[in-house]
Amino acid sequence: MKHILEALEERRAAARLGGGEKRIEAQHGRGKLTARERIELLLDKGSFEEFDMFVQHRCVDFGMASQPKTPGDGVVVGWGTVNGRTVFVFAKDFTVFGGSLSETHALKMIKIQDMALKMRAPIIGLFDAGGARIQEGVAALGGYGEVFKRNVISSGVIPQISVIMGPCAGGDVYSPAMTDFIFMVRDTSYMFVTGPDVVKTVTNETVTAEDLGGAKVHTSKSSIADGAWDNDVEALLQVRRLLDFLPANNTEGVPRWPSFDDPDRIDKSLDTLIPDSPNKPYDMKELIGKVVDEGDFFELQEAYGRNIITGFGRIDGATVGIVANQPMVLAGVLDSDASRKASRFVRFCDSFEIPIVTFVDVPGFLPGTAQEYGGLIKHGAKLLFAYSQATVPLVTIITRKAFGGAYDVMASKHIGGDVNYAWPTAQIAVMGAKGAVEIIFRSDIGDPEKINARTKEYEERFLSPFVAAERGYIDEVIMPHSTRRRVARALAMLKAKKAEQPWKKHDNIPL
Ligand code: HXC
Repeated sequence: MKHILEALEERRAAARLGGGEKRIEAQHGRGKLTARERIELLLDKGSFEEFDMFVQHRCVDFGMASQPKTPGDGVVVGWGTVNGRTVFVFAKDFTVFGGSLSETHALKMIKIQDMALKMRAPIIGLFDAGGARIQEGVAALGGYGEVFKRNVISSGVIPQISVIMGPCAGGDVYSPAMTDFIFMVRDTSYMFVTGPDVVKTVTNETVTAEDLGGAKVHTSKSSIADGAWDNDVEALLQVRRLLDFLPANNTEGVPRWPSFDDPDRIDKSLDTLIPDSPNKPYDMKELIGKVVDEGDFFELQEAYGRNIITGFGRIDGATVGIVANQPMVLAGVLDSDASRKASRFVRFCDSFEIPIVTFVDVPGFLPGTAQEYGGLIKHGAKLLFAYSQATVPLVTIITRKAFGGAYDVMASKHIGGDVNYAWPTAQIAVMGAKGAVEIIFRSDIGDPEKINARTKEYEERFLSPFVAAERGYIDEVIMPHSTRRRVARALAMLKAKKAEQPWKKHDNIPL
């Protein structure tokens, strides 16, 4: 019996070596951890249960029959816990055929996707791979298709997170693209459908892998990635932090962690946050930091569409999604990028029953040919649609400007805001005073005195929260220092919210 047990240990040890010592060294030499080292860091110590360690490929083409087989076939799969909560995980093993996807490699992924869905638990994919196993051809394509289909079936049921920690090319990009969040590691990861060589052949462009699909490109230009960190360790620790904010699935509700931050805490410094001049910016992140528990805010898409802020925080220990205009960037205007970014976030929150707190300081939609040609109407409509469709608790606080269509869009009462507050500094109007007067009193434009008088009159009448409050569009004008307490109380009351939509197969969001 003893030798049988030893033989198992030997088999396991061999499988854990993946592509062997030399390739592990090469992996480390590139500043990357191996698949198993990554899983160890991601999960609670000792909690990983590996499946399919001995699975091998079945390919006999292109000399594969005569090559020694590597157990595991380029992907490590299983489950474990993150701060005690079950998660499923697969990690591409670059030391085995460059982590490329074969038929059996896909079967391992599919098994874990199916289990995650059955258990209604999050799934995390760690990517570091060269796409389809070239020797397997169409079998690999079939495998990808099966993975993609499961990504879609799981979408909106369990959180799906992808972390790109090396190459991610060809077939490998589309599974992450259909997950809820993509994170990258700076300098060691890149993502593209076709690499620099193919780009050169087809379009004659010369571009490096980093410039084509590195972390900087995908976090600031394409918006494919939701964030990036400096190395594997930091990335995996941040994914653990994100998981603490997320519900396990779409019916369980948000996790509640012990909080030592009094939900009734007032913050007097907020009473002076808004500058005297309406054109002066202030940092909306200061407000967010002062409202959420212990100032702990997990920001998503930080480097993209920076005129809007999206991310998770907690109020009284429970997760909330935060959407906020950022007056520090483009005066917080809504443009196509900001609208697209925020609408995807709102839909994530609504899918997973995460209440949304919206802070509003928006001068309107960004005018111009670039925006109109780029489809601002449709992108703006995405955000309008996402908020209008949301049935989760919606709490809105207007701190300063809420002008024009952007007022309606930013979780106003009219499209489903449950509790809508305004600070006394709020200005809720069709547009700013100058623009309004120049349109209504165009004939007076040559007379600065008259224009100034009209502007003052407009400001006094309309640039306050009270016209909206008189109509009940704002439930209450609140003191800035009491914002956290007001939001916490509103969320506590809204826990019982039941909102029903008429039956439909699905909506037709303006994609
Ligand atoms: C089989 C592969 C492989 C692949 C890499 N390897 N990619 N084996 N199929 N797709 C193997 C290499 O042969 C090598 O084996 C080992 O992995 C490491 O690869 P290197 O090239 O030495 O590493 P590196 O220089 O870091 O380059 C990494 C790479 C490059 C950029 C990923 O390997 C590469 O370009 N691979 C091919 C990418 C690709 O074209 N994939 C197919 C995409 S088509 P040894 O034994 O030497 O260590 C696709 C279509 C699916 O995915 C569409 C579905 C919708």
